Formats: sequence, structure tokens, C-alpha cells
Amino acid sequence: MEDSGDFHNSCEVTSSGRDESNSHWVMPHLLIKMLSKSRWKILALLVVFAVMVWYYTSWEERYIQLFYFPVQEEKSVCPQGEVEKKTALLIGNYTRDHPLFLQLKDYFWVKTISPYELPYGTKGSEDVLLRLLAITSYSVPETILSMKCRRCVVVGNGHRLKNSSMGEAINKYDVVIRLNNAPVYGYEQDVGSKTTMRLFYPESAHFNPKRENNPDTLLVLVPFKPMDFHWMESILNDKKRVRKGFWKQPPLIWDANPEQVRILNPYFMEITAAKLLNLPMKQLRKVKQKPTTGLLAITLALHFCDVVHIAGFGYPDSGNKKQTIHYYEQITLKSMAASEHNVSHEALAIKKMLELRVVKNLTYF
Ligand SMILES: *[C@@H]1O[C@H](CO)[C@@H](O)[C@H](O)[C@H]1NC(C)=O
Ligand SMILES: *[C@@H]1O[C@H](CO)[C@@H](O)[C@H](O)[C@H]1NC(C)=O
Ligand SMILES: *[C@@H]1O[C@H](CO)[C@@H](O)[C@H](O)[C@H]1NC(C)=O
Ligand SMILES: *[C@@H]1O[C@H](CO)[C@@H](O)[C@H](O)[C@H]1NC(C)=O
Repeated sequence: MEDSGDFHNSCEVTSSGRDESNSHWVMPHLLIKMLSKSRWKILALLVVFAVMVWYYTSWEERYIQLFYFPVQEEKSVCPQGEVEKKTALLIGNYTRDHPLFLQLKDYFWVKTISPYELPYGTKGSEDVLLRLLAITSYSVPETILSMKCRRCVVVGNGHRLKNSSMGEAINKYDVVIRLNNAPVYGYEQDVGSKTTMRLFYPESAHFNPKRENNPDTLLVLVPFKPMDFHWMESILNDKKRVRKGFWKQPPLIWDANPEQVRILNPYFMEITAAKLLNLPMKQLRKVKQKPTTGLLAITLALHFCDVVHIAGFGYPDSGNKKQTIHYYEQITLKSMAASEHNVSHEALAIKKMLELRVVKNLTYF
């Protein structure tokens, strides 16, 4: 320690001693003088530089962008809050406070009185709900709750998915929402194989719950009428099946795990009708039109996702009588004629959402 200290001292002494006599040493000497004069400026510059380096490297994303490779688009940045902001422009009084699924406690402790009957509320169905909710679950799985960013895709059943090779892209989303009896088995290439939620009603439940879904898929019943609760109860409790009161015979055997079954909160049907389709909710008896499961699924996604993309939506032109409408079966628009849905009205609602960039149409890309 002492030795090195002495060495430094002697160095300084010799260099300063030589200054005046030897011109060789003038240049470095001037430089040192200049440096010591502007020491504070240099120090300040160094500090600024250090802060800049820290700023860029402190965020891992920036660091990767700067020094390695461009971060994979969309994977790193979550547009948190964007869907909420844009949806609020579209839906007055927009809130994410409503539970996705009906809960037993709302019918057991507090008798929730809904202003509407099905499909927009549960008025008059409280008793059967009490029995049904006692045997199903209503929790949102931890895997969904804990996601930092919920990138969702709603997969419509449209014919344009045929030969689309979109399966791989669809599987990459955090949440994949499917509709009704849309098959996955044998169509993986075009529609993917992942299903986080499947929305269905009894008449559309003609699918093999085990084959067309994953073991953790949520099977979400969309109740349109009180009979739909009775059907679900009779299936899960293996009670005598009810056959009357459906517009098409629902399956009598439906091999699903009750743990996977949820009952969709009719609030979302109400919002779809009142806010997206602007149906007059005060004169519901006069209005025959009801939202489709597809539009309902988009509404649902807008209430719990950070990204909402849609694929396979849209029907052929009303003049096109031969074009099949689904990717998996040979039916045409004619089959929709008797339904209570207004396909062109819904197309306008979806167009508006695409224009406002609330949702993005995946099938364009
Ligand atoms: C929002 O809620 C308030 C109070 O419930 C109601 O008066 C108003 O009409 C609602 N607005 C819309 C656009 O629904
Ligand atoms: C899909 O591909 C098959 C086989 O290549 C072809 O026969 C069929 O017409 C295609 N369907 C559509 C809708 O493009
Ligand atoms: C369906 O919606 C379109 C567009 O809003 C409207 O012009 C048409 O009258 C509606 N059709 C029926 C049967 O209500
Ligand atoms: C989505 O994009 C596809 C492909 O370009 C298009 O045919 C379809 O009409 C679009 N769907 C909607 C709902 O706009």
C-alpha cells in the first residue's frame, strides 16, 4: 500500500518538475489543465450519459430492442386499457364490474331481482337457478385471472375459415372463445385446437364435449329461455330429460364434467341487445330479434380482455343463396331465415366496432 502511494507521489513530482524545461510535456500538460478546468462539465456529461444508459437498459424491452433484435411484435407490449377506453366510447356506462358467470350467492343469500326475463335477465328463473348453480361452478380459473395480458380471439364459425390455415395463429392467443357446435377435431389446421371457453345453448350443444374441447375448457351455457336451465340441470343431475319447449331437440346425452360448466351472466346479453344493437329494451315483447352467440361472445370479450381479435365472422351476401355459411356443415343463409337473428343488423354493429378499432378482424391478415 505504502509503496504504491510513494510511487504516485514521485511520479507527480517528476512530471511537474519537467514541465517548464521540456516542450514534449506541454501538450499533455495543457490537456490536463483543460480537463481539470472543465472537470465539472465532463462530470456532468458523464452523468447524463450514465443516466441515458440506465434509462435504456433498465427496461428489459428497451435493452433488447437496442442491443439485440426487435422484440416480437405484440408479444411484449400489452395495450392495457385500450380496449376499455375504446369500448367506453361505444357502450355508455361501460363497466367491468359484472361477474362473467352467475353465482349461487346472488340467488341464495340475496335474492337478486333482475328487471328482465331471459335472455336479458333471470327474472322468474330464480328457483331452477338455485338448483343449477348448486351443482355447477362459477369461478373464473386462476390461469385466466393471473394472466398479465389477456389476448383474446373470438372464433366465428364462418365458411371463410375453411382452408384458411389459421389454426397456428389462433392457438397463440391466451384466450380462445368458440361458439356452439363448431368442431375442432379434424379442423385443427384451419381453426386451431385450443378452446378456453365455448359458448353454447341446448339446441347448439350437439358436439362431443370431451373430443371438441380441452380438459380445462369452460363450457358456458348461454340461457335464452327457462327451459335451457332445466335441460342443463337434467343432464348434470341425470334427471328425466325434458323434450318439449325447444326449437330443435337438444342432446339427451352430453358427457361433460360439471366442473367445466358455467352459466353466462345475462347482463352481457342485455348489453349486446341494448348497446350494440340498440334494440328497444322497454318494448321487448314487440321485438323478435335476439343477438347471436357470436356477437354476444364479442361483447363478453370486450369486458375482460386486453386485446380482442375476431376470426371467421361475417355471412355471405343476402343474394348468395348457394354459399354455405359455416366451415363445417353444408347449410346456407336460408337456414337463418326462420331464426330470431338479424344477420345484416349484426354485420353493421361489427363493422362499427372494426371502424372504431375496438376489435380487429384477423381474417384480413
Ligand atoms: C347510465 O346510467 C344512468 C344511471 O343508471 C342512466 O340514467 C343513464 O341513462 C345511463 N346511460 C346510458 C348511456 O346507458
Ligand atoms: C379447400 O381445399 C380443398 C382441397 O384442396 C378443396 O377441394 C376445397 O374446394 C377448398 N375449399 C375452399 C372453401 O376453398
Ligand atoms: C334487419 O336489420 C336491417 C339493418 O338494420 C334492417 O334494415 C332490417 O329491416 C332488419 N330486418 C328485420 C326483419 O327486422
Ligand atoms: C373480415 O375479413 C375478411 C377477409 O378479408 C372479410 O371477408 C370479412 O368480411 C371481414 N369480416 C367482417 C365482419 O368485417
